[in-house]
Amino acid sequence: MGDSKLAARKVPRWPGTDQCAGSGLLVPGPEPRILSFSQGHDTPPTFHKTQERPIDGPSVGAQELSAKEVAQLRGETPGVEGGIHLNNAGAGLMPTRVLNAVQEHLELEAVQGGYEAATLRRSAMDEAYADVAKLVKASPDRVAFLESATVGVAQALSSIPFRPGDRIVTTRDDYVSNQIMYISLRERLQVEVIRAPDGPEGGVDLGALEELIHRKAPRLVSVTHVPTNSGLVQPVEEIGVMARHRDVLYLVDACQSVGQIPVDVEAWGCDFLAASARKYLRGPRGTGFLYLSDRVLEQGLEPLFPDLRGADWVDDDLYQPAADARRFETWESSVAGLLGMGAAARYARDVGVERGGRRAFRLAALLRERLAGLPGVRVLDRGSRLCAIVTVAVEGWRPRELVRSLRAQGVRTSASELGSGLLDFRDKGVEGALRLSPHYYNTEEEVHEAVDRLEGILTGSSDSGP
Ligand SMILES: Cc1ncc(COP(=O)(O)O)c(C=O)c1O
Repeated sequence: MGDSKLAARKVPRWPGTDQCAGSGLLVPGPEPRILSFSQGHDTPPTFHKTQERPIDGPSVGAQELSAKEVAQLRGETPGVEGGIHLNNAGAGLMPTRVLNAVQEHLELEAVQGGYEAATLRRSAMDEAYADVAKLVKASPDRVAFLESATVGVAQALSSIPFRPGDRIVTTRDDYVSNQIMYISLRERLQVEVIRAPDGPEGGVDLGALEELIHRKAPRLVSVTHVPTNSGLVQPVEEIGVMARHRDVLYLVDACQSVGQIPVDVEAWGCDFLAASARKYLRGPRGTGFLYLSDRVLEQGLEPLFPDLRGADWVDDDLYQPAADARRFETWESSVAGLLGMGAAARYARDVGVERGGRRAFRLAALLRERLAGLPGVRVLDRGSRLCAIVTVAVEGWRPRELVRSLRAQGVRTSASELGSGLLDFRDKGVEGALRLSPHYYNTEEEVHEAVDRLEGILTGSSDSGP
């Protein structure tokens, strides 16, 4: 009796899932059919159709926000008073509604006690899950609340029972921390990390990626939708088709996407989707989420270190993982943060991610156009589809110095250092980039003002020098 308890690691939950916890994923499809992204391969017509339309950015038909709406949105954004905020890829400005949701709960905690306050706001917490789920077109029980995208990716990776020789297929533009985690898996578990090459326009070469998925039968395909260090948008929906076709787990890092680009976990066909709320979603810092597909849960995948939130301890040597996405959460979390993230998701849906994104894309295009005209400035963004992140290299200047000089003039930007996009920056022959990332609440005047101030810095007609 005692022995059998010791031998048990956990309670079997779903009939038949134990043997397929990860292990069924490498079985090749019944007929090895190569999809249509590279020349010379079979060409199922559906994929041609998909390629012809804008994949996942605001669609051409989407109406933009009116001037009146923009004025109202600015009125609901206290931070626009303090400067020109072009650092939404770092952290967006919280709207008043989000700020209130966080503050009100912290005040409740101060008066009632943290645990008691959580009990009082139970239904509001459930609504927050529902609002975030709606934003990505998932069901609420498939969303885990976490403190960041990085934690989401780490939880996801830790749930896959990698064995030596397993492969991860990824891109050259995946987020730095994800790349570090892949390398760590390689060092510790001898997992092979394969990066698909970029195509001539920038962004992953779909044909090459498809070939790799076909030939290498990876355990996981992992792609960052919008990298931190450029305006590129990767074709996550097409990649999802490939992953599904080969029955391979698929992880999407949508940290920069949520709030900027409509996210649809079903259409993208992903198994994991990790995001932070503080960027284009305009939520509070220290909040994020991880979406999990049915098959992740049904296959019994769970983080390497579940805790009492993600599992019940049911006998001496037995635990029972939660049946839903809670399995990927941990006990302690910021209830104020969850409520703030929920408010941010609701706000984003009220504004309309597609409409807001369309405006942010246009402001970014204006920025690129103006910046390209400045002396010594090179716009670095490449790819067939660009979003609201703008990156430039400026001859004779380190990005960090420019950020400081612009900050002194009331313009908030950020620096992408070499290590945050090592492969991409090396390909582009630069040491890093100045990153400007507008949102829908920015104005054309702010864009022109920011570029004028940068020009003043570069030409020495303002106070700040290199
Ligand atoms: C593309 C991308 N993925 C992941 C992250 C990490 O997000 P977090 O800092 O919330 O873990 C970032 C942060 O900038 C990012 O840009």
